[in-house]
Amino acid sequence: MTAASVAAGRAAVICAVGAALPPHTVSNADLTARLETTDEWIRSRTGITQRHVAGADLSTTDLAVRAGAQALADSEPVTVEALVVATTTPDRCCPATAPAVATRLGLTGIPAYDLAAGCTGFLYALTTAAGLIAAGTVRTVLVIGADRLAALPDPEDRTTVPLFGDGAGAVVLRHGRADEAGALGPVVLGSDGAGAGLIRASRPGALHMDGGEVFRHAVDRMSTASRQATAAAGWELGDVDRLVPHQANSRITAFVARRLGVPEDRQLSNIAETGNTGAASIPLLLARSAADGRLKPGHRTLLTAFGAGLTWGATTLTWPGLSPQPPTQRSRT
Ligand code: UT7
Repeated sequence: MTAASVAAGRAAVICAVGAALPPHTVSNADLTARLETTDEWIRSRTGITQRHVAGADLSTTDLAVRAGAQALADSEPVTVEALVVATTTPDRCCPATAPAVATRLGLTGIPAYDLAAGCTGFLYALTTAAGLIAAGTVRTVLVIGADRLAALPDPEDRTTVPLFGDGAGAVVLRHGRADEAGALGPVVLGSDGAGAGLIRASRPGALHMDGGEVFRHAVDRMSTASRQATAAAGWELGDVDRLVPHQANSRITAFVARRLGVPEDRQLSNIAETGNTGAASIPLLLARSAADGRLKPGHRTLLTAFGAGLTWGATTLTWPGLSPQPPTQRSRT
């Protein structure tokens, strides 16, 4: 590609989505059998009715490969030139997840790296991928958010166990024009390390979370970032057809929508079926909603997330015409 043609197409455009959820689900009833909790408490306080949980035979790498494979299968023909995996729960601290994912997807040789930004990881990964495209470094990037958050809580802790699930979601980003459907708008990202102690885990089984404080920060940060991202895009909040918030708690997302004045029927959610899947949350929700028709080509779409760090972010896009499949629950790839 010549420099001129790169410059002409330096926006990052979503051209495919993919998703992967472990086949095994844990219902609220399953949890009430072993924890002092109730289905009513979990549903009314969080909106969650079940979560998908990976067994020992399904790693973060496996989930990432499945979501990435589905995005590539659904994509227009592209040559992927880079891979970014957002995860806070890699299978090991060294080496990174992404090179192994790239090789299993037949992409050996491309730049491939991990990025950790808690539940905002997918938006951070999208942003760095868009930066690679804007700089002319590559033309197409596979971006995957993959997490196994169900392994993080102390299994005896009723205040955190019900919240989390496992999964992976992916998008293919290609170079294109800023005015075409699927092009990412301006991105707002932020962090505040003073809040690092509010959600922290030194290892699986040792998650600490100050739920009330996290709740308050999540509502504030996602609302503010959403206002900033829509303003930067030149949108009014009333222009938003679909709000796609990180799925942490249906009460958090309801507060955010209310603050922004986005009506309930424009807010997308899948937390009832998945729980909080971390960096996978937004791409899983995009894939699900595109497949079931709640997200349609032409919808002006606002993405926003918040997570450990603390981290937060938001961006906009007009949803493109894709041919997405429901999340894969295949047992091999
Ligand atoms: O991606 C970002 C990561 N995390 C989040 O975004 C989570 C943010 N926070 C939250 O979603 C909510 O704060 C929680 C769902 C974690 C908790 O909901 P809450 O309405 O803030 O409840 P709470 O922590 O104030 O607890 C209320 C009561 C407490 O009992 P007392 O002290 O009033 O007697 C808890 O011990 O509910 C009790 N409780 C439970 N009861 C039954 C806490 N967990 C449970 C449970 N079952 N699972």
